[in-house]
Amino acid sequence: MTPRLNVLQGFQDQYSEKPRWITRSPGRVNIIGEHTDYNAGFVLPMAIDYAAWVALKPRSDRLVRVTALDKDQTSEFSLDDLSKGQGDWQDYLIGVAWALQQEGFELNGWEGTLAGDVPIGAGLSSSAALELAVARAFCLASKLEWDPRRMALICQNAENHWVGVNSGIMDQMVSACGKENSALLIDCRSLETRQVPLPDDIRVVILDTTTRRGLVDSTYNELRAQCEAVACHFDADALRDVSLEQLLDSAGLLNITLYHRARHVITENQRVLEAVQALEKGDGESLGRLMNESHRSLRDDYRVSREELDQMVEIAQAEPGCFGARMTGAGFGGCAVALVKADLVEDFEYNVPRKFLRKTGLEPKVYLTEASNGTSFEEIS
Ligand code: GLA
Repeated sequence: MTPRLNVLQGFQDQYSEKPRWITRSPGRVNIIGEHTDYNAGFVLPMAIDYAAWVALKPRSDRLVRVTALDKDQTSEFSLDDLSKGQGDWQDYLIGVAWALQQEGFELNGWEGTLAGDVPIGAGLSSSAALELAVARAFCLASKLEWDPRRMALICQNAENHWVGVNSGIMDQMVSACGKENSALLIDCRSLETRQVPLPDDIRVVILDTTTRRGLVDSTYNELRAQCEAVACHFDADALRDVSLEQLLDSAGLLNITLYHRARHVITENQRVLEAVQALEKGDGESLGRLMNESHRSLRDDYRVSREELDQMVEIAQAEPGCFGARMTGAGFGGCAVALVKADLVEDFEYNVPRKFLRKTGLEPKVYLTEASNGTSFEEIS
C-alpha cells in the first residue's frame, strides 16, 4: 500500500470519515555539497519520491492527536503544555509545534494519521520530511500562510533546539522547496535557490549499504564546532568566506585535523558550483568526476565515510555507464548516490548490489528515484 493510501485508510478506520487534508513532504538525496550547509556554503540536493504523509482534520480546541501507522503509536498533547522526551517521531511532531509557537504563530489543534516510506536512518532525511509534513498540517489546521523558506527555518529550529541535533538547513530547504525533475542549488547563507533540471539521459540511483551508526549526532555536532573554530581562526563568519589560498597559507598554524576538515569544506563548495555548470550543460562526465572527488575528500579529509560506503562507491564507479558516485548525507553509514546513463541503469541496478553482497556479505537496497516536488497538500473533503 502506498503511504498516501495508508494515511487515508488509517484515518477512515480511526475516525469513520474522510480527512479534510493530506499533506506530503519528501526526503532527499544530496547530489553534491556535503557538510557545507552549516558553513554557509552551497549544496545541490534533490527531493526524492519517498515522503512523509499526514492525513488530518482540524479540531476546535488546542489538542493534537496523531497516530503513526507504521509504529502503531499515538501521540496526544495540548499545545499549551509541550514537553520533551516523548521519544523519536513524537519529538519531531511536538518540536514543530514548539518552533511554530516560538515564532508567534497561533496554532489550532488537529487529529490524524501519519506514515511514510523514507527509509529511516539511511541519510535520506526522513526527519526533515516528517517535520515539514507536520508543519504543513499545522498551517492548514491553523489557517496560516505557507512560506516554504520560513517553514524550513522553523523546522530546522525544531531539530536544533527541541530534538537537539545541530543540523544545517539543507534537508528542510529541499524538502520544502524541491522541484520535479530538478536538483536544487541552495545558497545556505541567503537561502536563495536555483532549479537545475536533470537531463533525461541521466538517472540518479541511491545505493543503501544498510549500515547504520550510532552516536552520529554527537560526532556531527563536533564536526560543526571544528568548522566554526577554523572560521574563527580566520576571523570569518563562516568557512564559506575562507579561500583555499588563505587556508594553504595558514597550514602550519592549524591543527592537522582542523586543516583537513576545512580543506574539504572549501573545495566542496567549489565543486558544487562546478557541478551546477556541468549539469546545466548536460555534462554527466564532469559532474561524475566532481562526485568522485567529493567522495575522496569526504573519505580522506573530512573522514565521515566508512569501509562499506567506500566499497559501494568503488563498485558503482567501476560499473559501465556510471558517471560518478559518492557517499551522501552526513556519513558514517547509510547511502551512496550514483549518476548513471539512463540506458544502462537496469544493468547497473542488477550488478552493483550483487557485487556488493559478494564483497561484504551485506544485502544492500537500491532506490531508483525521480526528483520530486517539495511540501504539498491536497484537500480531500
Ligand atoms: C545531515 C544534516 C544536513 C547536512 C548533511 C551533511 O543530513 O542534516 O544539514 O549537514 O548532514 O551534508
